[in-house]
Amino acid sequence: MTQKLLYVKANPKNDSDSHTSTLANVFLKEYQQRNSNCEIITLDLYKEGIEPLDADILTKMFSGEGNKAYQYAQQFASVDKYVIAAPMWNLSIPAILKSYIDYVSYVGVSFKYTEAGPIGLLSDKPRKAIHISSRGGMYSQGPAKEFDLSDKYIRTILGFFGINEVESLFLELTNVLQGDALKQAIDNSHEAARSLAAQF
Ligand SMILES: Cc1cc2nc3c(=O)[nH]c(=O)nc-3n(C[C@H](O)[C@H](O)[C@H](O)COP(=O)(O)O)c2cc1C
Repeated sequence: MTQKLLYVKANPKNDSDSHTSTLANVFLKEYQQRNSNCEIITLDLYKEGIEPLDADILTKMFSGEGNKAYQYAQQFASVDKYVIAAPMWNLSIPAILKSYIDYVSYVGVSFKYTEAGPIGLLSDKPRKAIHISSRGGMYSQGPAKEFDLSDKYIRTILGFFGINEVESLFLELTNVLQGDALKQAIDNSHEAARSLAAQF
């Protein structure tokens, strides 16, 4: 069966102006070259116009009526691989990505309640995800490590859905490095992207 990859993009900038989207594109290009049969579905959350859950969607979510959250959740559940690309904003993910996650966290699709507590429904087949993010500072190591709520959240919510094979790819210090040092960091992140794509 043809594999499907969902590219969830949460950035209002043009790709060429965004470190995160550029890095995601390097990853996806390498991945597509190596996996020509895989169908890549791009979901640009800003183009989709994702909005926070409102009373109307919430009511429909819990009454079983058709609604756009259900459609996004079904799409999320229908794929094998996930590329989630977002810059760090205020130590976390952009609000639009949180809103999207509020849509796909759908009872009966991505998780369900049991007497023993909630369980993820997306462990039904092998699934893989990668979180790609650029950030102005350094969080993957050093004193600010514990302040990175973005990667922790993405990994935790995916694990909650039953997706436990999750990679992370960061381009850090974009607001600190300049000139050749920044270029070197970008080049290194692109090399890491190609290397991760080869095994994804
Ligand atoms: C609204 C906003 C919030 C940000 N918050 C942080 C932050 O908490 N920590 C950080 O290191 N950088 C922060 N930055 C900087 C970006 O993460 C950084 O410039 C990143 O490289 C942007 O990626 P992009 O080019 O894909 O948009 C923030 C930038 C913006 C616009």
